[in-house]
Amino acid sequence: MGCGNSLDRHSSSSDHNPVPCRLDLTPRQLELIRFSWDLIQKDMLVTGLEIYANFLKNLESEILLLFPKIIHTDENNERLIVHEENLQHHVMIVMKGIGKVVDNLDNPALIHSFLSYVGQRHVQSNVKPHMLERLWPSIDDSFRTVLQDVYTPDVRSSWRCVIDFMIEKIAETMEEAERKQDFRLANDKNCSFAHLAD
Ligand code: HEM
Repeated sequence: MGCGNSLDRHSSSSDHNPVPCRLDLTPRQLELIRFSWDLIQKDMLVTGLEIYANFLKNLESEILLLFPKIIHTDENNERLIVHEENLQHHVMIVMKGIGKVVDNLDNPALIHSFLSYVGQRHVQSNVKPHMLERLWPSIDDSFRTVLQDVYTPDVRSSWRCVIDFMIEKIAETMEEAERKQDFRLANDKNCSFAHLAD
């Protein structure tokens, strides 16, 4: 079971004013996502904590450093300390973010502005677009644990579509922000060297 992603950016509007795009799930996929999300959200914190326990465990320090409120080293720089309260807070924000997308699959404008906002937050946190896909293996593992028999290949591939879609939209905002930053830097350089041309 595949998924369509009707990306309308290129159809009528310029890159600066993209038309919200829609994730084209089949009616069956929509049903599978909504049904399985109902089960997941019954214990959202536990599922989310499992996702992040798995995710953080497998990360290299370059990425761990992006979570200073959640994970830091002790005073001797020997042990990693997890700030449980902040971790729970982060987990709930991310899980509610997934829920917001699932609950609004028929509202592309809302999804577009929400995922743009999430993209900006990642830019502010120095996350790079290529890092985003690192969360999927942990989501996949914990959804399998929580959903057990319900996590059929069709349910899994429907979730893959939703998460890939989210990653793609978040990354687009981040890349756009990077392009603007490069442009600003290039302009600044042009300004500081402008006198040499005289
Ligand atoms: C499917 C992939 C992902 C989703 C849906 C997602 C979602 C979110 C959301 C909703 C927020 C909170 C935004 C806010 O402040 O309101 C957030 C923050 C953040 N995310 Fe992600 N995220 C994803 C992947 C990742 C990955 C792979 C990393 C690291 C490599 C990451 C690092 C961060 C960081 C550092 C923050 C800010 C945390 C803070 O303020 O303490 N995210 N993410």
